Amino acid sequence: MELPFAESYRIKMVEHIRRSTREEREQWIKEAKYNLFKLPSSQVYIDLLTDSGTGAMSDKQWAAIMLGDESYAGASSFFNMKNMIEKITGFQYVLPTHQGRAAENVFFSATVKEGSVIPGNSHFDTTKGHIEYRKAIALDCTIDEASNTQLEIPFKGNVDPAKLEKALAEHKGNVPFVIVTVTNNTAGGQPVSMQNLREVREICNKHGIPVILDSARFAENAYFIKTREKGYEDKTIKEIAREMFSYADGMTMSSKKDAIVNMGGFFATNKKEWYDAATMFCVMYEGYLTYGGMAGRDMNALAQGLDEGTEFSVLESRIKQVQYLGQRLDEYGIPYQRPAGGHAIFVDAKKILPNVPKEQFKAQTLGIELYLEAGIRGVEIGALLADRDPVTRENRYPELELLRLAIPRRTYTNNHMDVIAVALKNIYDRRESIVSGYRIVKELPIMRHFTIELEKC
Ligand code: F0G
Repeated sequence: MELPFAESYRIKMVEHIRRSTREEREQWIKEAKYNLFKLPSSQVYIDLLTDSGTGAMSDKQWAAIMLGDESYAGASSFFNMKNMIEKITGFQYVLPTHQGRAAENVFFSATVKEGSVIPGNSHFDTTKGHIEYRKAIALDCTIDEASNTQLEIPFKGNVDPAKLEKALAEHKGNVPFVIVTVTNNTAGGQPVSMQNLREVREICNKHGIPVILDSARFAENAYFIKTREKGYEDKTIKEIAREMFSYADGMTMSSKKDAIVNMGGFFATNKKEWYDAATMFCVMYEGYLTYGGMAGRDMNALAQGLDEGTEFSVLESRIKQVQYLGQRLDEYGIPYQRPAGGHAIFVDAKKILPNVPKEQFKAQTLGIELYLEAGIRGVEIGALLADRDPVTRENRYPELELLRLAIPRRTYTNNHMDVIAVALKNIYDRRESIVSGYRIVKELPIMRHFTIELEKC
């Protein structure tokens, strides 16, 4: 008999979590103004709010922390990190930042102007926020297939080459770069194929436009290329990653994902003029060029995490757990963005709660139901996140209303996945009876979902 699959690690340290009662949760979510971000983590049983900074570091990462060099300038930890980044990405100029959005801030400050147009594949919310804050436009060129949750295709995160061509022709002179997000978080943690990266590069070359990878989950993307794209089966993740980055001129990175650290990020490039222009903003917003908002020990852990996070066995353990949750949902017929993404399952709230009006925020309603059912915290990827149109200030209702269940790396077991699946099944079984959602009481003008206050309709 063939041995079943199991994780390529064992557990040395644990953190206790506790179940709560439904009465407690009803009180707590009301106090949190029906915003899951406002819940103290002690009120959450299984926390799937994000896979960002929530992973379990390895013994070697903790050991690297003890060797951190905290010198203000020229710390050896910076060079450890820089050398690892260069080995994996091929980019020689590196600016550390305290997290991914800070890398966006530093790089965009040097390159994005009022009226700029930045084409990409479903820009992440902070990316879009940083672009729109500068009165520029984040132009979505994702393939149309990405919005059909039931369609099963291997690279649902791809850029549509025809849309990109059109965008570059129409906005000639106003495009400082194209940004490709790997994996495509907003479209469901869906990967971008190597062929697509190559095509984007060719189109951009024709128009003389550089390319940036938003690389938060580049290693998961490389895993999907290895397991789904012809010609890559026998390549290592590191070889695949190197090829992915060869089609780009630079990268922004949230190291809290695939580098498996709790905090950190960076911008990296081979374009000296980009690096030079961004250094000033790094010093101003983040810190001196060799720490940029990170402690030396954290840069050391990041270097080790990047090395481990680009090993096949680490990625296989991680992605197979997400796929396991997907299989459990399949057993109950619960619809989600197919196929299962790299870092999360994106449950289709439109299909689960057809009776809740879109103006009452379907995905948020499902998120609150799941919390009430079992103390599980997901995150809304729907109309609240989509924010208002910057010009008309009308609510934007995206095609997809999803509840994202992001799985932290090496943190929960498959027994937790079973609890999640059953909790969703219980909601699915009574879906017809859920007919109303929530209305906004208070919101900020940008990235409102983090702090929004709601009440029951
Ligand atoms: N780009 C992508 C694709 C992301 O998913 C994130 C963060 C960022 C940039 C910004 O990085 O958080 O380090 O500042 N995503 C987290 C998430 C927050 O939950 O998906 P950051």
